[in-house]
Amino acid sequence: MAGRKRGPFVAGNWKMHMTRPEARELAEKAVAALAGLHESEIVLFPSFTALAEVGRAVAGSGIKIGAQDLHWEDKGAFTGEVSAPMLRDAGCTHVLVGHSERRQYFGETDESVNRKARAALRSGLTPIVCVGEVLAERESGRTIERIDAQLSAGLRDLASGEMEAVVLAYEPVWAIGTGKTASPGQAEEVHAHIRRRLEESYGKDRASCAIILYGGSVKPANSYSLFKEKNIDGFLVGGASLDAGDFAGIAAEALRAYREEK
Ligand code: PGA
Repeated sequence: MAGRKRGPFVAGNWKMHMTRPEARELAEKAVAALAGLHESEIVLFPSFTALAEVGRAVAGSGIKIGAQDLHWEDKGAFTGEVSAPMLRDAGCTHVLVGHSERRQYFGETDESVNRKARAALRSGLTPIVCVGEVLAERESGRTIERIDAQLSAGLRDLASGEMEAVVLAYEPVWAIGTGKTASPGQAEEVHAHIRRRLEESYGKDRASCAIILYGGSVKPANSYSLFKEKNIDGFLVGGASLDAGDFAGIAAEALRAYREEK
């Protein structure tokens, strides 16, 4: 495909699952199942407590680890929080920012998303900034308006050079954990819009290199057709990432679509 510069990026968000022994077992299975798919960038997002364990299990495999959230200060009196330098120290290269569950249940705002994204970049972590509309917004025709608001506030004051290190994830909230996936066409419409917005703000080169993931009930059965869309560069996978075979199936199907395009 003209303009596609990178192989598939597949992220597994394990959410609040897995004790350390369970996490180690899943990570080892993922390493085995994903062997041979390393043209793709693969990142696992276990809970904070399992980061070190999963880091050891994936060492040498090319698979990276990331955290599901961070605080925007580097240190201080913020009981219960974890900072970007701590995540770096735990072996993370990536961090999720503004996942819809953080927005829905824990008061995450576009403003805190922006502070967290900037904190991640300051420490050399790649933030995966999540955006997405809820069902009522989609049904009332306000999807694009919502995405635009999340992007402009969430990415406020980021320089073009910093944007190079940002990954975006479009996750329609109504598709997360519901078994309802956006159709490839529905997802592509929003992805194309996001890329156009990036182009307006940061220029054509930066926009064409940007990685924009889709998330929401991704499975091996829909990965190929979603990845075939021009502006979908990979996936943020929740439920299916808890099964190493399904997760590897998603990566394999994306890679199949990618190889056909080259
Ligand atoms: P899901 O979750 O794949 O279970 O829908 C996606 C996500 O929350 O990132």
